Amino acid sequence: MSKITRSVLVDVELRLKNAGVPSPRFDAESLIAFSLGIERNRIGLIKDIEDDQYREIEKLVEKRVRRIPLQHILGEQGFRRLVLHVGPGVFIPRPETELLVESTVRYLKDKNQDRNIVVDLCSGSGAIALALASEVGNSDVYAVEKSPEAFQYLTKNLADNEESLSNANSKFIAINADIEEPIQDLENLKIQVDAIVSNPPYIPNKMIPREPEVKDHEPEMALFGGRDGLDLVRVVIKIAQDLLKPGGFIAIEHADVQGSNVEETGVPYLLLESKAFTKVEDRRDLNGLPRYTVGIKI
Ligand SMILES: C[S@@+](CC[C@H](N)C(=O)[O-])C[C@H]1O[C@@H](n2cnc3c(N)ncnc32)[C@H](O)[C@@H]1O
Repeated sequence: MSKITRSVLVDVELRLKNAGVPSPRFDAESLIAFSLGIERNRIGLIKDIEDDQYREIEKLVEKRVRRIPLQHILGEQGFRRLVLHVGPGVFIPRPETELLVESTVRYLKDKNQDRNIVVDLCSGSGAIALALASEVGNSDVYAVEKSPEAFQYLTKNLADNEESLSNANSKFIAINADIEEPIQDLENLKIQVDAIVSNPPYIPNKMIPREPEVKDHEPEMALFGGRDGLDLVRVVIKIAQDLLKPGGFIAIEHADVQGSNVEETGVPYLLLESKAFTKVEDRRDLNGLPRYTVGIKI
């Protein structure tokens, strides 16, 4: 016997809420819509759910109750204009990071050059790099990622977006490498790069993330950045010193407690301390928290 969609929705939302899922309504709608093969905003148009569809919904809800990330269940995450493949082994791109992309897009578009060279360090699924390559035309975008598992998602996402990159006349260079080691593909870019962007791992090693979705399902390599969380940030700054041209742009995402320009645990502090950057500015996310630092190469 079929079930009334509204009752199913209310029931699923309650079960997710009781399981501690932070956005139970959104997730309930997403899971039901996914099972029905429709857009989330069209659920209201479906009055009844058939038995076999209901069984499918139950399977997904049971996973979400176990706090498997919604994006792993759906296999995708929206980011800017992209829909990216994600799953176990790759970091799920966050909405906060879209703001870092926005700042970089603005910088590059304002420069209005014939060709841009951009490097994304610690690229994960390729979210930042692919967004920049598709939104800022005439760009050569280098994306560096160490994890072989994450790199597989990156190449899949690249394959999916080849047409939009070609329409934008952009070139994409995917590099499976460790940014702590010399990278041959970047050797020829000394003092030539227009923008270096990075959302590196930045959680201090001893901190345990609270949400099970992060603690149990995000790859450790994507989360932890050494004793104070800033090991990879220091590497990114060093690489930017070598590769950025004078006037080039840097943008680095960080934890909300890493926005200080006076304490050594702040990304703005590290950029200023390097004496290689001016106009160092810390910017906030949609919750008003310090989230990423930008600067201009001297
Ligand atoms: C916080 S995730 C961000 C991923 C992506 N930039 C995003 O915003 O969705 C950090 C990424 O850095 C990668 N990573 C960690 N250490 C690295 C290293 N030494 N060299 C290159 N990539 C590294 C991780 O595998 C992970 O994909």
